[in-house]
Amino acid sequence: MSTTPAVPGAPLPGAPLLDVRDLRVEYRSRGRRTVAAVRSVDLQVAPGEVVALVGESGSGKSSAVRGIMQLIRPAGGEVRFDGQDLTTMGRKELRRARRDMQMVFQDPFSSLDPAMTVAEIIAEPLMVHTDQDRKHRRASVVEMLELVGLRREHADRYPHEFSGGQRQRIAIARALVLRPRLVIADEAVSALDVSSQNQVLQLLQSLIAELGIACLFITHDLAVVRSIADRVAVMYLGRLVEQQPTEELFSSPQHPYTQALLSAALVADPRVQRTRRRMRLEGELPDPSNPPAGCVFSTRCPAAIDVCHVEMPELLPLADGGRVACHLVETVAAAPGLAVR
Ligand SMILES: Nc1ncnc2c1ncn2[C@@H]1O[C@H](COP(=O)(O)OP(=O)(O)OP(=O)(O)O)[C@@H](O)[C@H]1O
Ligand SMILES: [Mg+2]
Repeated sequence: MSTTPAVPGAPLPGAPLLDVRDLRVEYRSRGRRTVAAVRSVDLQVAPGEVVALVGESGSGKSSAVRGIMQLIRPAGGEVRFDGQDLTTMGRKELRRARRDMQMVFQDPFSSLDPAMTVAEIIAEPLMVHTDQDRKHRRASVVEMLELVGLRREHADRYPHEFSGGQRQRIAIARALVLRPRLVIADEAVSALDVSSQNQVLQLLQSLIAELGIACLFITHDLAVVRSIADRVAVMYLGRLVEQQPTEELFSSPQHPYTQALLSAALVADPRVQRTRRRMRLEGELPDPSNPPAGCVFSTRCPAAIDVCHVEMPELLPLADGGRVACHLVETVAAAPGLAVR
């Protein structure tokens, strides 16, 4: 579908579908210190690509998503979707852009309107964004129900009649009914029991692959990351500290935080315990309204040297793709003539 017209401002071929630059998301409340939950995040998602966003609780993943979707207006930075900056768009323009970017939320119990039937829930995006008539909408609803493994008889029931896993299938049907170009799934399966988690995850994975939809996938589960993602971005205290293709990240994590995160997840595997030096993450995530000086990870980093406590390292390219923000890792930024991606 993507033709490349020579329109000024049109995206270049090969340009990312989602291009986030220097994103900053803040929460202000009267009498309290402003919380900068996201500070300077750069993130790209190519058409059809699955990017996982990981990081411990409170690192700012959901806030980044809210800033990307303009559910909160960012305090700074750009969010280009298909070349257009969402942060400067008015409501009407934004509504149009949202047609192509849909979300699946964590909690299928609060994200579906209990007063609407399944058919109404799934058809809602069609009502907002298309002029399909009733008959066509009904046909789309039935098609989507079957696509997500539910039945046409389910169309006229209400959300409370379904299990968590089934509700998340309904949420996926709603998110995909317009055939968006990007789906953002924020902990989309973590509220479900383990067997539903696997089923819903496999469903989502196969549908986005089949339909060629790009996905920004937020999860705590590194096994899921490994099975679903093409690339992984690691957040710590509001910043992106590392980004690598999935296999490279798991085989050769560069940032001490990524190393700690991986070894914490791998301790359950005794073979890994023997072959890999374990690194434990000590202490708590610092308060984002009062971040440490220098590198955000310096207060917990086992390898920190003097400069780490003074200067925040930039996110710089690695020799074999990927990027890392660490004073201790050799990056290629200093090499002249090398294009920074
Ligand atoms: N509405 C809000 N008002 C004030 N602070 C908030 C708000 N929402 C989140 N925060 C703070 O912003 C920081 C980042 O939170 P966020 O929910 O984005 O993290 P997360 O990475 O999604 O965590 P989790 O893995 O638990 O979902 C946290 O310190 C959190 O307390
Ligand atoms: Mg979250």
